[in-house]
Amino acid sequence: MSQVSVKNITKIYSSSSVAVDNVNLGVENREFIVLVGPSGCGKSTTLRMIAGLETPTKGDIYIGDKLVNDVPAKDRDIAMVFQNYALYPHMNVYDNMAFALKLRGYSRYDIEKRVKEAAHILGIAKLLERKPRQLSGGERQRVAVGRAIVRKPLVFLFDEPLSNLDAKMRVQMRTEINKLHLKIQTTMMYVTHDQVEAMTLGDRIAIMKDGKILQCDTPLNVYGKPVNKFVAGFIGSPPMNFMEEKIITKNGGLYFGRDAFSLKVVDRMYNILDKYIGKKVVLGIRAENIFDKLFASNATPDNTVRTTCDVVETMGSHNYLYLSVGKHTFIALVEGYNKPLSGSTLEVVFDMERVHFFDPSTEETLV
Ligand SMILES: Nc1ncnc2c1ncn2[C@@H]1O[C@H](COP(=O)(O)OP(=O)(O)O)[C@@H](O)[C@H]1O
Ligand SMILES: [Mg+2]
Repeated sequence: MSQVSVKNITKIYSSSSVAVDNVNLGVENREFIVLVGPSGCGKSTTLRMIAGLETPTKGDIYIGDKLVNDVPAKDRDIAMVFQNYALYPHMNVYDNMAFALKLRGYSRYDIEKRVKEAAHILGIAKLLERKPRQLSGGERQRVAVGRAIVRKPLVFLFDEPLSNLDAKMRVQMRTEINKLHLKIQTTMMYVTHDQVEAMTLGDRIAIMKDGKILQCDTPLNVYGKPVNKFVAGFIGSPPMNFMEEKIITKNGGLYFGRDAFSLKVVDRMYNILDKYIGKKVVLGIRAENIFDKLFASNATPDNTVRTTCDVVETMGSHNYLYLSVGKHTFIALVEGYNKPLSGSTLEVVFDMERVHFFDPSTEETLV
């Protein structure tokens, strides 16, 4: 039994704007699921409908085995953490965390036990007397999380909880949220626009665009087997390289492009790409699958192209090479010792086993 089931939910705010478009999602017990996508794609609206803060235009929501469409937010067994923390400024940390328990009539003893336990888990036991204004951003975020965990809900909902923190703090809190999930083993749904957060936190990631879930799978599957060009380009940094060329036949084989930019397609992709002979397709390849020929063991004339290395970005452990051939530009990720000169000519090898092909009009993955 899923902890949260969302069945065909749609949210239409006005006739011109469909915020959430027929979304289906099942979240398993103890699962950590991340909704990720660009701003405005419907992530918050989806979460807010689950929380009971918005009413779906259509569709059903189950929490546990209970249909909750008509259950008010306060009676749903969930706790939500928001981007802006929403702490009560006049209350100290203890009272902020205790508030929801007091409302629900818990005894003083139970409240103290739960607040102290949560404060201990989150490393804020020494801050219980402080007011929110006396806390750093990271500490406030911990209090906001603490306020959710004291309730021991069936499900936690997080809406961009780290967006107000600086980059370093964000990375630190990300690890803390991972640890928290391991410790308390509760189902979590987490919304972010940041694909790195999604990859590092999620057991599964649901990638949303224009109110729809395009793909929901493990981080490795969405990275390695994206269902379309949008997912392929959204997940991963730097983004996947894309180039468009015709599929042609040569020497009994299939090639992507011709002349200065010609790459032989591997045999296992023939039965899909032979429908595209003479037509354009989009090739996608990640930066780590393009190699400097000097350091590649598998170079052949069929997977090698002569490029101009326009810029080299030195990162220490690795370098980004900004390469171009004719109208195509793409990025290769190479080892730190592999440092060609900017402006030089560089032969690079494409790992053709690792390329993806997309239909240029539908943008669906072909192979
Ligand atoms: N209360 C509202 N009234 C009207 N339109 C809204 C409201 N809330 C959100 N929207 C619209 O719905 C779409 C999805 O918004 P939202 O769920 O907040 O996206 P996200 O969280 O992914 O950035 C956006 O186009 C947004 O402008
Ligand atoms: Mg949002």
